[in-house]
Amino acid sequence: MNHGLDDVVVAETALSHVDGVAGRLVVRGHELEEIADCRFEAVLGLLWDGLTSRLWTEQAIHVALGVARLVAFERLVPAIAATDRLSSIEALRLLLTTLADADTAPHHVLAVAAVPVFVAAIARRREGHAPIMPDASLGQAADFLRMLRSEHAPAEHVRALETYLVTVADHGLNASTFTARVIASTRAGLLSSVVGALCALKGPLHGGAPGPVLDMLDAIGDFDNIRPWLKEALTHEERLMGFGHRVYRVRDPRADVLKATASALRAGSNRIRFAEAVEAEAIALLARHRPGRRLDTNVEFYTALVLEALAIPRDSFTNVFAMGRVAGWTAHVLEQERIDRLIRPQSRYVGPAPQHPIAA
Ligand code: CMC
Repeated sequence: MNHGLDDVVVAETALSHVDGVAGRLVVRGHELEEIADCRFEAVLGLLWDGLTSRLWTEQAIHVALGVARLVAFERLVPAIAATDRLSSIEALRLLLTTLADADTAPHHVLAVAAVPVFVAAIARRREGHAPIMPDASLGQAADFLRMLRSEHAPAEHVRALETYLVTVADHGLNASTFTARVIASTRAGLLSSVVGALCALKGPLHGGAPGPVLDMLDAIGDFDNIRPWLKEALTHEERLMGFGHRVYRVRDPRADVLKATASALRAGSNRIRFAEAVEAEAIALLARHRPGRRLDTNVEFYTALVLEALAIPRDSFTNVFAMGRVAGWTAHVLEQERIDRLIRPQSRYVGPAPQHPIAA
């Protein structure tokens, strides 16, 4: 039994291709490195192209997202107090459920627009501040940073966040995207599919790793402690966060894009030199620890450094991942809805054979 469905092909998609052997990510016919400098709205246009009856130009998406962020803000205001007992990602899960199938904005636009509104408001509430209303004239990345910080972010921060969102926008049939497609196949609707996808993203083996990457760097503390700390962790069979991948057998190409972004944001800083030293040692130790399996840097390692440099709170990291990945979720749901075939595989029964009737 292949419990992890490793290498099993269960869908056809025109959206993205992860080449785990060559270490390439192709999004709608474009190499990741080609689109990394594009605006998030432009990549949404690529992903949504041909999947709805409307032509989604970058400008049309910019306008529609701005309007939909205001709709999401209306849903947020009465619900935000209910998030106080929850972790940041549980809070996002709750707020996404306030979007209704009856909402008239196109659901794929509403879902993408709502995530940054909710994520900024959740982070501010944790600091004791009220949410800030969206500015529909801004792009998604710029408005998120403004709603988070209560002031306009410098252009290089907006650019860096945009590169991050584009880099994680879609990635083949990862666990959350597969979840979204299964839910969509039941005709439950796009908004329900996105809520389910977020629940899958929450786990540390998928989207929950970048916060723990920084925890690891903090726990290691200084250069002298890198080797002993990592060896100790591996001796206890702990997984080093930010390393290894189900599909990539080489370095995750997203790691290089984000390493360049983090390095530009913190040029010459000790933090980047320290992270590079941890990375190099971790790769060397993992090679000795699991000689038969190449374990290299994945997207989450430098995600952590980019988001830290943007002063995004650590407990919001997975929520910010969702801000980017919701682009892919919506496109996959639209694609699945066109296929309109219930996903319903089989299981093999390994329980006891029927024996005696249950005593009354
Ligand atoms: N640290 C230590 N050992 C590891 C690691 C790691 N980061 N990753 C895999 N291994 C070991 C694993 O314990 C297993 O050993 P054994 O065969 O003795 O049981 C062996 O390598 C093979 O691993 P696997 O479990 O078959 O690999 P997988 O395909 O199930 O796991 C993974 C992929 C990402 C879940 C795993 O590498 C991992 O847990 N990494 C750490 C968490 C992390 O960085 N998550 C973010 C993933 S990237 C974001 C995304 O695209 O979703």
